[in-house]
Amino acid sequence: MTASSLSFGLAVLFVIVGMAMGIGMAASQDHSIMPAHAHLNLLGWVSLFLFGIYYERRPRLDTSRLALIQVSLWSIGTVVLTIAVAAIHLGYTAADPIAAVASLIVLGAMLLFAYFVFRPGASVAAGPAARMTPAE
Ligand code: HEM
Repeated sequence: MTASSLSFGLAVLFVIVGMAMGIGMAASQDHSIMPAHAHLNLLGWVSLFLFGIYYERRPRLDTSRLALIQVSLWSIGTVVLTIAVAAIHLGYTAADPIAAVASLIVLGAMLLFAYFVFRPGASVAAGPAARMTPAE
């Protein structure tokens, strides 16, 4: 599995859940979990899909274990943060420390991604230099 395929797959799952949350809010006319919906869609759909495009354009990074770890950390952080933010806005303020930990996980994953962006040579193991595309 490559980092881009994991990113695209999880991003689509997250946006399906995020859209269902949006429809649920609209149908019930109860928008109290709106911040959780917004975080799930923006971290889990928009950002994760953008990571996937970045990785897909860098085949050596795409097949690296470190990139898979980045996508996994980001996704775990997004799920935990979404649930914790929803819980907080439903009145379960005890979820606050969980949201804090999840936000640090997501920040850590973004710092790892920043490392890939600013030190592209240092973050990839040796591998195929480019993907071959059959001639038409
Ligand atoms: C079936 C699809 C969707 C439905 C039915 C839906 C529904 C909603 C509803 C009812 C709200 C609350 C609005 C309010 O209380 O003012 C909301 C807020 C929001 N939604 Fe969605 N949504 C959908 C998809 C998306 C997607 C795909 C994204 C992002 C890519 C997104 C991002 C947001 C954001 C950022 C907010 C917060 C807006 C604000 O702060 O005023 N939504 N959505």
